[in-house]
Amino acid sequence: MQAIQVTDKVYWVGAIDWNIRDFHGYSTHRGTTYNAYLILSDKPTLIDTVKKEFYPEMMARIASVIDPKKIEIIISNHSEMDHSGALPEAVAAIEPKEIYCSDMGLKDLSAQLHPKFPMKVVKTGDKIDIGGDTISFVEARMLHWPDSMFSYLEKENILFTNDVFGMHYATSRLFDDENEERLWLYEAEKYYANIVLPYSDIVLRFLDTVQKMGLSPKMIAPDHGFIWRKDPSKIVNLYAKWATQAPKNKALVVYDTMWGSTQKMAQYIAEGLRLGGTEVKLLSMHSCHRSDVATELLDSSGLIIGSPVLNSGIFPSMADVLCYLKGLKKKHLVGGAFGSYGWNPGPVNALANTLTELGIEAVAPVVSAKFVPDAPVEQACKALGLAVSKKIAEKLK
Ligand code: FEO
Repeated sequence: MQAIQVTDKVYWVGAIDWNIRDFHGYSTHRGTTYNAYLILSDKPTLIDTVKKEFYPEMMARIASVIDPKKIEIIISNHSEMDHSGALPEAVAAIEPKEIYCSDMGLKDLSAQLHPKFPMKVVKTGDKIDIGGDTISFVEARMLHWPDSMFSYLEKENILFTNDVFGMHYATSRLFDDENEERLWLYEAEKYYANIVLPYSDIVLRFLDTVQKMGLSPKMIAPDHGFIWRKDPSKIVNLYAKWATQAPKNKALVVYDTMWGSTQKMAQYIAEGLRLGGTEVKLLSMHSCHRSDVATELLDSSGLIIGSPVLNSGIFPSMADVLCYLKGLKKKHLVGGAFGSYGWNPGPVNALANTLTELGIEAVAPVVSAKFVPDAPVEQACKALGLAVSKKIAEKLK
């Protein structure tokens, strides 16, 4: 395994995980990479490591350009295990003189790894001399963990951003200009929707702070996906757009069905939305993954949820996706709820509470059907779709 050269002195020494399809509940259809970076300064420096099982791949790439024992400094920008899992073995093999992390990084790494090696804490504005260049640090709390930190290699003008500006996208082509936009744009958007979305307010504040600091990196090097070298501002501008969560005339109908009744209701609601002029996507949890729903939700203004009743509760697949979406805290949503039942309408009616928990402004009462929807239910469903469409149009004015 060879390192990939980024500049005269900087090498990518990470790992490519071609086969991962589930990243802690997030569907990774195109695999991912765990990016680690080696700086061949007078004090050779390693930024982040990789997932534990990819330690041999990282070490082989390092060894292709330098004796790993010559590395003097390791920096942990992020303590999540896909970047810190290989840290204990790497420290044991390399025996670096210094290991740096943020204050929260020290707490997190200590609790995860129970390390026997010392770590030094750095904070925003701190700088370290790595011999021939300088690394300055910017804490990025809650982007997306409390420990998250950026490292800026001053002379080379490269910003190492941990997960931020990354994506789950396995590629042997390390740079933005070597990858097809039609593929990466979806993966970058999916990454934002599933990982970064809950912290959108922090993203906006952080982008403002970085701009005020006058940073204008020639490259942005995240911990997943590829390096932004042709136009780093492209991903920064996309983050600024996604973080605003500006409303669009689009709604999702997310549902599951047992015997087809809730599906019929979903189709009637979708017809109401379409007649109202709103783009609509019907997402059956029989067919869709929760993380693909989250991706579709990123630019949606409407969310209408539907479930049948099973054993005095909502359908398990709906409980799953609603729990997931609740954690992502999407803003500015309007919507409603619906579902069919046999003898107990309680779980369908309780979807009204779920709408509140999701922060969705309900435009109408829950629509329910006993067993199979009849003509009045069909009309109520279409009216729900139309009402959501009307409310979205009002918000877009
Ligand atoms: Fe790629 Fe938050 O770890």
